[in-house]
Amino acid sequence: MTPSADVNKLPPPRHIAIIMDGNGRWAKKRGLPRTAGHAAGAEAFRRIANYCRTLGVEYLTVYAFSTENWKRSSDEVAGIMRLLGKYLQEALSDMEKNRVRFRFFGDLTRLTPELQKLCMEAQNRSADYDVQVNFCLNYGGRDEIVRAAKNFARDVADGKYQPEDLTEERLSAYLYSADVPDPELIIRPSGELRTSNFLLWQSAYSEYVFLNVLWPDFGPEDLDEAIAEYHRRNRRFGGV
Ligand code: IPE
Ligand code: IPE
Ligand code: MG
Repeated sequence: MTPSADVNKLPPPRHIAIIMDGNGRWAKKRGLPRTAGHAAGAEAFRRIANYCRTLGVEYLTVYAFSTENWKRSSDEVAGIMRLLGKYLQEALSDMEKNRVRFRFFGDLTRLTPELQKLCMEAQNRSADYDVQVNFCLNYGGRDEIVRAAKNFARDVADGKYQPEDLTEERLSAYLYSADVPDPELIIRPSGELRTSNFLLWQSAYSEYVFLNVLWPDFGPEDLDEAIAEYHRRNRRFGGV
């Protein structure tokens, strides 16, 4: 897929983040089980990660499973985890072709040891590739900040820092996103108008684009539309 001429004129944002929402509704509309929606959502992710590489986006952060998503039925959670394992297995065998660098944001300790191992393998084997995909798994923005605060407090207790040493920059270094620039653009498909605990710290000055398409139907043309909208925004960062 070649990018539309419109989007081609301006450089894309360096970092795009996406809340991959709407899988369940997509499946329901078709009379399919929710898991079928998650399978279609995984395909949409593949398409968009490839397209981001074509566009030259440096970082793509995707929300795949939140700290709140454990509230769902055990069947649905098991289905999502199974798909994730399958996706990672395939990503590992296609690694050389896709050249995507994997990072994982979230508390992976709640995943099965097999899944944790696949995540680590994907991260280690892809360290030298181009587009960086930050896969948010058992991720919550509040949980990320609490974890950062705990780790800083531990370093204070160990005598490494004084409480006064805490700055925005230092706290950022304790987040999963340490060394990743903040996303310029955050996209939420599916028509919902909320963040649902995604990148709370990092989104301070991100531009949000909400689209009415369900994630499994999300294609390159939707990303083009979101980027075009981003370029129409006037970013002031509190200035004039
Ligand atoms: C997003 O789609 C995937 C996850 C949260 C795991 P949903 O499953 O939330 O789909 P809807 O919002 O119910 O349509
Ligand atoms: C956010 O979607 C989480 C992911 C897409 C992984 P949800 O479907 O969980 O969010 P709510 O429940 O609509 O706020
Ligand atoms: Mg949802």
